[in-house]
Amino acid sequence: MLSDTQALAQTPLFKGMQPQSMEAAREAFVIRSFPANKLIFEAGDQGAALYVVQTGRVRIFRTYLDGRERMFAYLGPGEVFGEMSLVDDQPRSASAEAIEDTTLLALYEENYWGLVRRFPEIIHNLAAILAKRLREADIELEVLSFEEARGRVAYALTKLQRQRYGESGKMRLTHLELAQLSGTSRETVTRVLHALRDEKLVQVGSGFVEILDPTGLEEVLFGLR
Ligand code: CMP
Repeated sequence: MLSDTQALAQTPLFKGMQPQSMEAAREAFVIRSFPANKLIFEAGDQGAALYVVQTGRVRIFRTYLDGRERMFAYLGPGEVFGEMSLVDDQPRSASAEAIEDTTLLALYEENYWGLVRRFPEIIHNLAAILAKRLREADIELEVLSFEEARGRVAYALTKLQRQRYGESGKMRLTHLELAQLSGTSRETVTRVLHALRDEKLVQVGSGFVEILDPTGLEEVLFGLR
């Protein structure tokens, strides 16, 4: 488990800051705890706090009028969310839920201004976080607009592996979850997974998927095989 200053040291928000500055900056944050499956905020809420994950995991998603869900991201220790509403004063662009028991460091608007006046590098770091998000959104838009189901599922598997499980290992996940990440149906996911398994790119078992050939899967993602 990370201490709160370790969590801050890991976060891109505090990149390049001296440990003493980080200690001082920590005072602007408030600890908030959420049990597993608890909603942190909902898309459309007014909200003016940014969060850094200290321990646990958070998922970012949207629910549509017909009940379908689209998953945007899984976040772990050190990662930041909720920065968009803090910066532009608009309602929350997506919902956030604790997947497991989670502790967050919250930076509320009233403390934000004092913090950035004292440590202006935080504004640059925040801009870098937003730029990264935009780059990822660009790639995602490309994949979701141009790729067939096969490419989308390959993309979702690669993204999930990176965000949730590190570089390798079995991913516990359902076909529905994968469908929500890849913007396709559960039936299509099952069909695509069986094909990828037959090509020895993934191993599929009950309730898990394992990437066997990451390079091959990237080729699928870019339509090269
Ligand atoms: P905010 O709009 O304040 O609240 C929802 C948060 O979800 C948003 O800030 C971002 O921090 C995060 N978020 C929104 N879209 C994405 C995305 N596509 N990928 C990862 N995180 C996102």
